[in-house]
Amino acid sequence: MCESYTVTSVSTTPYDDQKPGTSGLRKPTQVFLTKTNYTENFIQSIMTVIKPSEDCVLVVGGDGRYFMKEAVRVIVKVAAANGVRRLIIGQNGLLSTPAVSCIIRKYSATGGIILTASHNPGGPNADFGIKYNISNGGPAPSKVTDAIYEVSKQLNTYDICKDLEIDISTIGHQSFCIGENKRKVDIDVISSVADYLTLMKDIFDFPALKNYIHDKKLKLRFDALHGVIGPYAKSVLCDELGCSQDSLAHCVPKEDFGGSHPDPNLTYARDLVQEMEKGVHDFGAAFDGDGDRNMLIGKNGFYVSPCDSLAIIANNYEAIPYFRKNGLKGVARSMPTSGALDRVAAKLQKSMYETPTGWKFFGNLMDAGQLSLCGEESFGTGSDHIREKDGLWAALAWLSILMHANADVEQVVKQHWREFGRNCFTRYDYEQVDVVAANNVMSGLKAYVENQSLLNTEHTSQSHTFVIKTFDDFEYTDPIDQSVAKNQGVRIIFGDGSRVIFRLSGTGSSGATIRMYIDSYISSDAENLEASAEEALKPLVEVALRLSKIPQFTGREAPTVIT
Ligand code: G1P
Ligand code: ZN
Repeated sequence: MCESYTVTSVSTTPYDDQKPGTSGLRKPTQVFLTKTNYTENFIQSIMTVIKPSEDCVLVVGGDGRYFMKEAVRVIVKVAAANGVRRLIIGQNGLLSTPAVSCIIRKYSATGGIILTASHNPGGPNADFGIKYNISNGGPAPSKVTDAIYEVSKQLNTYDICKDLEIDISTIGHQSFCIGENKRKVDIDVISSVADYLTLMKDIFDFPALKNYIHDKKLKLRFDALHGVIGPYAKSVLCDELGCSQDSLAHCVPKEDFGGSHPDPNLTYARDLVQEMEKGVHDFGAAFDGDGDRNMLIGKNGFYVSPCDSLAIIANNYEAIPYFRKNGLKGVARSMPTSGALDRVAAKLQKSMYETPTGWKFFGNLMDAGQLSLCGEESFGTGSDHIREKDGLWAALAWLSILMHANADVEQVVKQHWREFGRNCFTRYDYEQVDVVAANNVMSGLKAYVENQSLLNTEHTSQSHTFVIKTFDDFEYTDPIDQSVAKNQGVRIIFGDGSRVIFRLSGTGSSGATIRMYIDSYISSDAENLEASAEEALKPLVEVALRLSKIPQFTGREAPTVIT
C-alpha cells in the first residue's frame, strides 16, 4: 500500500519574463516570492516541454540559498502530478551543480532541475534561479530553453499534487501513488556528496595526493564563500586527503551566503586572498555558490588567472590520471577567454574550439568525443567527466599538477609563461547599467561591424600602437549539430593578436551588465613577462574605452568589478 495523492489542475496566468538566460531563469527572489504561481508556472513549463514518460527520472538539488527548499517542495508536487516516475533529491535539497551533472549521468536520469543563481547573492532581497539540465548532465541547449519560454508565455493551467509533502532531511526512499490509476512515484533522498566523491576518486589519485600533502606538509585553504561546496570540501580535504579542519573557510552553507557575493574572484573572495598573502598556506581555492566556479591562489597570494589555469591544465594533462587513461581528445575555450590555451593546443597538436560564452556550448563536442578539457575566463574550468564546469575538480587538477611537477603554484605558472609567453587578461564589468545606455554602447560597436570603417586604422595609447585587423560580431556554428549562435559579442582583433571583446551579460536579474574583455600577449622573451598584468594591459584598456565610448554612454568613470 502506498499513500495516494490526487492531481489538481490549477488555473494560472502566464508570465512573459520567464526566458532562461546564459544559465537558467534568474530573477530577484522577490519575484518568486510575490508573483503568484511564478515557480509553479515555470516548473510546469519545463514539464510540458519534457513530457515525462513512464520512466522519467529527474535529479533535484541546489546551492542552499534562500527559497531553495520551498522550490524543491513545488518541484516534487508538480513533477509527481505530471508523471515523473522518480525523483532523486540531495539531502536537505543540497547538491552542487557539478554533483547534479554527475548524478544525472550516473543514474541515466532524464534530466535535472538545479536551484541556484550561481554566483549572484542570495536571500529575500537578492537572487534566486532555476535551471534545467538534460540527460547528458549539461545545461539545456537553446532549443529546449526557447521551448520552455514559449510554453511559459501561454500557460493557463498547471498540474499539482497539492498535499504531497516529503521529508528531504533524511536519506532514504519514499513511494507514493498518484491519481486514480495509482501511478507510482519514487523519491530517493541521497547524500549530497557521495556520488560526486566517488567520481573524483576515479579521476584523481587520492592516496598519492594524500601522501604528497602529508610529506610536503602542505597547508591548504578552501573557501566555499558559504556556498554549497562546504560539505564537499570537507569530505575531500579533511576526510579523504587528511587535511585539518582549519583548511576549511566559510564551509557551512548559508541561505544568504553570509550577506556577500558567493563569487570567487579577487573582489569577492578577498578574505581568501588576504589569508594566502600571509604566506602560511601553500594552495588556496575559492568556489561560487553552486560550486562550479573556482579561483586558485598560490602561496603569498599569487593569483592564477582562469585563462592561464586552463592552459596550464592542458599542458600538464598527463598529471591527471583520468586524462592519462582516456587521452586528451580536444580542448575548448569560450570566445572571450584568452588565447593562452590556443598556444598549448598548437604545441600538443590537439583540436581547439572557440565557443560562445556559456557552458552549454561545450556539451555537443563532449558528447561527440571531440572535447576533453575546456574553460571560460569567468572562473569556470572542467572536463568531460561531467557536463558542467567543476570548481573542486579544478582545485584537484592543480594539486595533481603541483605533485607531478614537484613545484609550487607560482613556479608552475611562471614556467608556463617562459615556455609559451603570457596572455595578460582582464575583464571589466559595468553592472546595473541603464538598459538603454548599455544598448547604445552595443549599437555603436555594431555600427562599426556593419560599416567596417575602422579596419586597418591605428590606435595609439602610451606609446603603443594597435592596428585593427578584425571588427566583427562573433557567430558560432556548432560543429556537431550545425546550429548557429549569432550576436555572441563584438570582437576587435589587432595586428599583434591582442583582442578586445564586448558583450552584454545574460545572467543578470535586472538592469544590464556590460562586459569588456581584454587579452594582450607578452612574448616569452619580453622584459615585462612577470610584471603586473594591470600595467601591461593599460594601453589596450584605454583604446577599448575610447572605441566603445562606455564612459560617455553610461556615465560610468570606472567599472563595478575588475577581474
Ligand atoms: C557569465 C559568464 C559565463 C558563464 C555564466 C554562467 O555569463 O560570463 O562565462 O558561463 O556566467 O556561470 P554572462 O553573465 O556573461 O552571460
Ligand atoms: Zn556557478
